[in-house]
Amino acid sequence: MGMDGSFYTSQELFELEKSTVLLTGWHCVGRADEVLNSGDYFTAQLLDEPLIIVRGDDGHIRVLANVCRHRGMMLAEGKGNAKRFVCPYHAWSYSRDGQLVRAARMDNKGFQISDYRLPEYSSEIWQGFIYVNLTDAPSALAPRLIELDKFLNPYETHNFRVVHTAEEIWQCNWKCLVENFMEGYHLSIVHPSTLRGYTPSQLCTKGPSGLSFTSYFANYPDNIPPRGHGSEGLTEQQRHRSFLFNVFPTQVTSQAANLLVSLSLQPVNVDQVRVRWTLSVYKDDLDDEAIEGRIALWIDVNREDREKLEKLQVALRSSKALAGPLAGEDQEGTIQDFHKYLARGFRHAVYLNPDSPGQMATRR
Ligand code: FES
Ligand SMILES: [Fe+2]
Repeated sequence: MGMDGSFYTSQELFELEKSTVLLTGWHCVGRADEVLNSGDYFTAQLLDEPLIIVRGDDGHIRVLANVCRHRGMMLAEGKGNAKRFVCPYHAWSYSRDGQLVRAARMDNKGFQISDYRLPEYSSEIWQGFIYVNLTDAPSALAPRLIELDKFLNPYETHNFRVVHTAEEIWQCNWKCLVENFMEGYHLSIVHPSTLRGYTPSQLCTKGPSGLSFTSYFANYPDNIPPRGHGSEGLTEQQRHRSFLFNVFPTQVTSQAANLLVSLSLQPVNVDQVRVRWTLSVYKDDLDDEAIEGRIALWIDVNREDREKLEKLQVALRSSKALAGPLAGEDQEGTIQDFHKYLARGFRHAVYLNPDSPGQMATRR
């Protein structure tokens, strides 16, 4: 069974998610090659935490709090290259690794510039994706994804290069977006001209899953040519399908021979999610015109999904939005995997804190 509407509209449940799966999870924020050179940065926001993702002078990518140590101003917006992050309020400035290096007229006794650095979050690079975790000393992500590595390594996912990034706010619950991206049942209906020819619903098959991820294959019909060559290590079967996976909780990605599309979800509210998505290509496999075509296609695909999900969100507020049955494993089995993951995360919270307001939401 699926879930009833309150699962996607309850403020109480959203608060529970914020204090459990969203707080403790590893979140993809983008691709490592978006910050290729020292000083390259982009910003993101996870829950209440504004972030700067920046490559330091030492070549390491760090995720820093985008919050000034003076009186809390946001330091940077959007993306770019910075020699220093200069606070737009009173001009305290920070190096690329977050150390305060200048604070004008701070001649108070005992004030030491070296005492103030921007807090850094745990981060990790896996398959060329940048992940951040908001808790202190989380257990590593990569060991949890070893099963997924087996499926991605032939594609050389880490060798894909970003050619397009976009950020949008969708008026829907973040879980609806995860579920939508991760089921093939809707492909032929919602994407008749963009996707159906290559990835019709009836050819979708369930892929591997584990405690930290789920996946499915969108197989191409036999009678059409593969969409691209990609890495030498790929089999003909791998060239003839897209592999869609969800790294729980907020990353949904489609890997094809020479195209990699990944959505990073940053939940804003129970009915609002910031979607930061990247489109990457395999080395020089596609020429500029083909790349433009793929970008245009995916802008259309995302628009088609977004229109449906924003209407879904309205209907899910209905008292008559009852739980319905899910289709079989190949069509919607990934939704079951996602719900089981959430249930594990919620149970843990209730166990830790039996008086938490989330307990009611979990029981319901
Ligand atoms: S808040 Fe940043 S310098 Fe004052
Ligand atoms: Fe879709």
